[in-house]
Amino acid sequence: MGSLPDVPIVHNIPVESSGGHRKPNHLNLRTSFSSASNGRVPRVRSDRRRMGSEGKTAPPKVVCGDAGYVLEDVPHLADYLRHLPTYPNPLQNNPAYSVVKQYFVNADDTVAQKIVVHKDSPRGTHFRRAGPRQRVYFESDEVHACIVTCGGLCPGLNTVIREIVCGLYDMYGVRKIIGIDGGYRGFYSCNTIDLTPKSVNDIHKRGGTILGTSRGGHDTSKIVDSIEDRGVNQVYIIGGDGTQKGASVIFEEIQRRGLKVAVAGIPKTIDNDIVVIDKSFGFDTAVEEAQRAINAAHVEAESVENGIGVVKLMGRNSGFISMYATLASRDVDCCLIPESPFHMEGKGGLLAFIERRLKENGHMVIVVAEGAGQELITESMRSVEHQDASGNKLLLDVGLWLSHKIKDHFARNQKMSINLKYIDPTYMIRAVPSNASDNVYCTLLAHSALHGTMAGYTGFTVGPVNGRHAYIPFHRITEKQNKVVITDRMWARLLSSTNQPSFISQKDIEDAKKEDEPPTQLLDKENNHGVGVDFDTSAN
Ligand code: F6P
Repeated sequence: MGSLPDVPIVHNIPVESSGGHRKPNHLNLRTSFSSASNGRVPRVRSDRRRMGSEGKTAPPKVVCGDAGYVLEDVPHLADYLRHLPTYPNPLQNNPAYSVVKQYFVNADDTVAQKIVVHKDSPRGTHFRRAGPRQRVYFESDEVHACIVTCGGLCPGLNTVIREIVCGLYDMYGVRKIIGIDGGYRGFYSCNTIDLTPKSVNDIHKRGGTILGTSRGGHDTSKIVDSIEDRGVNQVYIIGGDGTQKGASVIFEEIQRRGLKVAVAGIPKTIDNDIVVIDKSFGFDTAVEEAQRAINAAHVEAESVENGIGVVKLMGRNSGFISMYATLASRDVDCCLIPESPFHMEGKGGLLAFIERRLKENGHMVIVVAEGAGQELITESMRSVEHQDASGNKLLLDVGLWLSHKIKDHFARNQKMSINLKYIDPTYMIRAVPSNASDNVYCTLLAHSALHGTMAGYTGFTVGPVNGRHAYIPFHRITEKQNKVVITDRMWARLLSSTNQPSFISQKDIEDAKKEDEPPTQLLDKENNHGVGVDFDTSAN
């Protein structure tokens, strides 16, 4: 790295350069034309895809290589701005990092989406590996970064903010960083918050977000006007799938206007419902904090005759928090999640199971994810669907509904009187600071994001894929949601630990099979959501 030229070099191809000339492509990528002197140009498939509500299109950068290798690449400033100068990465002179062997990521490094494969199956989809590059596209004093948090709260938001600020400051010598106040709509108000390592020093110990947040409020052209007017050239957007869709549209508008502004998304959802990445930040903390509510429910239930503790946990469409909290606790007798429809009455129904478990044990604990059983409630209440400002369906309180149903049932059944306590810790869980493991994870996410923008990548989101951090195109994480697969081994583990009825009908099994990907590869890691990234659902 010491031999790199110090003068700016021109980078006008959408592939990484190193040291001022095109590196030979070690991936042996197939080419579409051979006119480029010695180097081979990778075949870039440009199947245009609709992006955003305004019907604009952005060509995903897809590069195909040998043996079914596919790189789903992310955009780069050099894709639409020709002749941008680059500079040596200041990390070369940073005493903390310069001693690290192989600190800079190799230009050809990519991360495989699937790691368990048949011996003859294609190499499959890959993403560009995250991390610092030898050359950067911004000089330190040129950078004006902004950070915005959107959507519901989640443990770790403050840590991500802190680590973007400290990372930009300490690693890249950036001095101009502002926070946007109160989500997307904060872009078009006058208030911004100056962020320095000093002002963010302790914020990781607090829950919530020091920047404030909101749902909705996304007016693309007003936001990009504001970015332009303020002279911001790096935008860090922390939020869920709706927010990342918004980030994608902002990137497209920036590209359309030809601005040298890099946009990075950091995916946030306490529900862990984001596909492709191993898990979302705050999820570990939520599972851990849920233990306190489950413990309380268990203590209450076992202290009285026929005690029932009902605990509602977050999980609008995906029951990961409930599933992992149940597996971790071992005190839960029944876990209800949105992916597994259940029924109350009759043989095999929930009420019959409760009666049986009370007779056997004298008490029980039920964990229910907020999105579970919504069709049952809607049926019994004939309610009308409403949405929040993010466009999410407003949920009816399944915990309250379930508690009433159980109480009613046993009030009618004279033979057994019960004592039910309902605990709803959802907002308490969401508001806690992130735990130690999430703090480290948030640091890596923040670092991946800022290394990416400094290296000129844009229109990307970050996250670990099979334990390695990668740059992922926005559309890959927003086109569908991550769900618990009830025909997978993890849910089977849960059923075997609680001994609850599976409620799975033959039709559910058929439907789940239909949703499965073609069997080109053995295990889809998209349901591999261990609290540690090396948790292998295929094992055992
Ligand atoms: O998406 C995160 C989440 O916490 C969900 O679990 C929950 O359904 C929703 O947000 C609640 O959002 P609100 O802040 O609007 O109540």
